[in-house]
Amino acid sequence: MKEILGIDVGATGIKGAIVNIEEGKLITDRIKYPTPKPATPLAMTEVMKKLVEDHNWKGKPIGMGFPAIIKDGVALSASNIDDSWLDFPIVGFLSKKLKSPINVVNDADAAGIAEQKFGDDTPKKGLVILLTLGTGIGSAVFNNGVLIPNTELGHMKWKDSVVEKYVSNNARETKELSYKTWGKELNRVLNHIEFVLSPDHIIIGGGISKKFHKYEEFLDCSATVAPAKMLNNAGIVGAAMVAPI
Ligand code: BGC
Repeated sequence: MKEILGIDVGATGIKGAIVNIEEGKLITDRIKYPTPKPATPLAMTEVMKKLVEDHNWKGKPIGMGFPAIIKDGVALSASNIDDSWLDFPIVGFLSKKLKSPINVVNDADAAGIAEQKFGDDTPKKGLVILLTLGTGIGSAVFNNGVLIPNTELGHMKWKDSVVEKYVSNNARETKELSYKTWGKELNRVLNHIEFVLSPDHIIIGGGISKKFHKYEEFLDCSATVAPAKMLNNAGIVGAAMVAPI
């Protein structure tokens, strides 16, 4: 089966589309609903149900990216969603509620899987790191194309908090930072990541990847740095790619 419903769950929006997973392309317009507040399992599941109905997808396999550490079908973190997701058996719960076979992976890992496979000229060799800069910061780390799942580089300690509180797109907007101030701080974070992990290539993902030209001049790294090639669709495409088929 090459057409799959991909659902990209974020702290701000929940998006879905049918994806051709052989070509890495959306074949329907993406539908986006706001993430309910509080973002509890029941409230978020109602939105996911709507997406399943919108696409007439009951009973068919679904792939999902979710903004948490996901191990053995269980959500193990809840940074920008309700705490009740902690230790929540997400895969078992959603497969019952959505009445479809489903697989769930971390949202940044999903985006990285899509970029590695379908991102034009994204290196497939060496250490490649994707950072999604959105409400929080997600990361996906690949060594020679193999994913090391559930890395949380956005949660490295930074100043008096963690990285995502300083250089997510949300931090830029809420603190009303100029691209120069924010870009220089992002550069310091990337330099620190370089020191710790020695990546060959860094991909900047999330909605802010579209504005790469506005902060590119402030980035000075040994690794090559480029915006995500699939821009904001990587999350949905990668989600569809992990569906249980
Ligand atoms: C979460 C990650 C997630 C990222 C992007 C972070 O706050 O801890 O798991 O990938 O946000 O949604």
